[in-house]
Amino acid sequence: MKVPAHVAIIMDGNGRWATRQGLPRLEGHRAGVDNIHRVLDCLVGYGVKHVTLYAFSTENWGRPEDEVSGLMSILEEVIYEEAEALHSKDVRVRHMGRRDRLSSRLLDAVSYTQDLTKNNGSINLNIAFDYGGRDEILEAIKQMVREGVCPDDLDEETFARYLYTDGLPDPDLIIRTAGELRLSNFLIWQSAYSEYFTTASMWPDLGEDEIAEAMESFSQRQRRFGALRSEDPSG
Ligand code: IPE
Ligand code: IPE
Ligand code: MG
Repeated sequence: MKVPAHVAIIMDGNGRWATRQGLPRLEGHRAGVDNIHRVLDCLVGYGVKHVTLYAFSTENWGRPEDEVSGLMSILEEVIYEEAEALHSKDVRVRHMGRRDRLSSRLLDAVSYTQDLTKNNGSINLNIAFDYGGRDEILEAIKQMVREGVCPDDLDEETFARYLYTDGLPDPDLIIRTAGELRLSNFLIWQSAYSEYFTTASMWPDLGEDEIAEAMESFSQRQRRFGALRSEDPSG
């Protein structure tokens, strides 16, 4: 079976999951954090090498203040415990996104986690938090201008080195839960030739069966990358 090297997931539907059960939305975010392990274990089992999870977008700051602060508190509460749990599974964790708006407690925890897990090799887990594709592209351009990169030297490969995903293959498969059919500013440069899979399940409910369905669907896709024959440019 053809397995995607890089799976990116838009973890959507935490709020709806909670509301449907008569729970506060924040309980959905808690359940969402718990579900990361189940999905990650499953993807490791398939031999996926890189996983990128969209956890908080640059636009999510626009939610009601109590939801944003509640979400940050949940993270601050669980992040060290999660770091240890992921480390024990040999997962390498990296953050993708802006750092300047995170609390110092979260920033410290991010550095700690990245350092703790830097030599791990079962799977690379990227957490997109305060991430936005447009913001990422704009920051890359600003940095290139600061460095005086000559326009004639600029090609796609050079540009990609200025993105958070430097060194990572583009996502082969993007999964979105909660039935939505949009990218919501996720990996907009990197997803140029990604395959999509959406499921009606809310993120906290996403489990082995849906992952199996996504993998099966991916293995049957014919990727052409604009050419006429099915060819994978990565070989
Ligand atoms: C995804 O779940 C998590 C974040 C965006 C932080 P949502 O909070 O978007 O859940 P719904 O879409 O409102 O159900
Ligand atoms: C996308 O979900 C962002 C994350 C999953 C972190 P949203 O719930 O924010 O997206 P929209 O608002 O439905 O497009
Ligand atoms: Mg949502």
